[in-house]
Amino acid sequence: MSGTDKSTQNDGAFFTLTDERDGQQYRLPLLSGTLGAPAIDIRNFYNTSGVLTYDPGFTSTAACSSAITYIDGDQGILLYRGYPIQDLAIHSDYMEVCYLLLYGELPSPEEKATFERDIKLHTMLHDQLMLFFRGFTRNAHPMAIMVGVVGALSAFYHDSTDIKDPEQRMLAAYRIIAKMPTIGAYTYRYSLGRPFVYPKNDFSYAENLLYMTFSVPTEEYVPNPVLVKALDRILILHADHEQNASTSTVRLAGSSGANPFACIAAGIASLWGPAHGGANEAVLKMLTEIGDKSRIPEYIKRAKDKNDPFRLMGFGHRVYKHYDPRAQIMRETCHEVLAELGIKDDPLLDLAMELERIALQDDYFIERKLYPNVDFYTGIIMRAMGFPTNMFTVLFAIGRTVGWVAHWKEMIADPKIKIGRPRQLYVGHPQREYIPLEKRQQTEIRGWSRLWGGGNKNGK
Ligand code: ACO
Repeated sequence: MSGTDKSTQNDGAFFTLTDERDGQQYRLPLLSGTLGAPAIDIRNFYNTSGVLTYDPGFTSTAACSSAITYIDGDQGILLYRGYPIQDLAIHSDYMEVCYLLLYGELPSPEEKATFERDIKLHTMLHDQLMLFFRGFTRNAHPMAIMVGVVGALSAFYHDSTDIKDPEQRMLAAYRIIAKMPTIGAYTYRYSLGRPFVYPKNDFSYAENLLYMTFSVPTEEYVPNPVLVKALDRILILHADHEQNASTSTVRLAGSSGANPFACIAAGIASLWGPAHGGANEAVLKMLTEIGDKSRIPEYIKRAKDKNDPFRLMGFGHRVYKHYDPRAQIMRETCHEVLAELGIKDDPLLDLAMELERIALQDDYFIERKLYPNVDFYTGIIMRAMGFPTNMFTVLFAIGRTVGWVAHWKEMIADPKIKIGRPRQLYVGHPQREYIPLEKRQQTEIRGWSRLWGGGNKNGK
């Protein structure tokens, strides 16, 4: 993957690696950004040494440079374009954050009004695209529908798929950001068999999302301002998170020159997994399964047992080794929403807080620096608002779309863009001789087949 190089520089510092096989030394430039750890520039390392670097999971690899978002995982700091997430969550709104992520600066009042109006011009879906929903079964997972419909946007909006044209890139960006709430709301309405509701331009982005999801055409819909604020905040907190799995997926897909709609669909697919955006849904399932505070110790024990695949969902993060700042904000918002809805005692919130309290006192979680992440409390809020569990990741995807788009744009605008093409450490057979079918000696049955009852006798 490639990224902008405008802010990385070598200040004359180098990192020397020694090949202990022959004593050969390699002097590698150290690149520094504006904040965070420096990076060893290994771009020419393979050419000069014939040796690859090995980093599955990218735990020590900066795949690009980026000027969008900064995370200090040890301090629990998250900045969008330099602004702390707490300030944005409290004082800003989602449209302003979208502008900030896309353009790099906070908008003036005029710029903000124009941006909001321009986004609203693109909220409806092509009438024929609406038919796509009918191709899915009513019980399809909303994320399955969303991946399909977003991917299909490229079949409808041909005037914004030329990635070499900055105008078309911007048009595609606006279209995707504008249409995501409509698509998300329709995945829900379709599952219920309710008629689709068109967006309304006098509503804000979050109001429209609630309106298109929950209103019925026969009744007037008045959005609850506390819920609107909470939803807007959820969208802000999810708007970007630097090079996470889905954003890296968008970058990788985009690095080949694929159109933006296809790239965002790839990001949605990546987000869906329970180790990433699917965790908010998994947290609710876990809390429901635990059911009662008395069973928490049993689940903590299971989470610590290496022979048990169970993990405490909503806990732990690749980058944060500190309380996720987004989780802190969500915890407060959770109380506000429940109070507004008159839910005095939510058993799941009580359970979540007790689970957090017990886990944070446990040596296993302390030693590994495992804290609640953003997903731990968002599910409880979304559920209280009326969203079913399977819509949680859809809301995450709607919020994250601007981040995906901003990273995609940043990458495409870089004149030094290179296709993302990782190398590998091959561990398969060395070259061997092909044996004709009739001469092969059958020693065991290999390969999966339904005819063999879903597996073979060797379980391979
Ligand atoms: N429960 C129990 N143990 C955990 C958990 C957890 N939730 N998370 C990490 N660990 C343990 C691991 O078993 C490992 O232990 P070990 O050192 O004894 O082997 C250690 O902590 C480090 O964990 P890794 O899996 O190496 O950390 P990684 O950075 O690869 O994974 C991840 C991060 C995927 C988020 C992980 O913590 C996890 O699976 N959490 C639960 C799922 C979740 O909440 N995902 C949402 C992430 S945030 C987001 O996408 C918005």
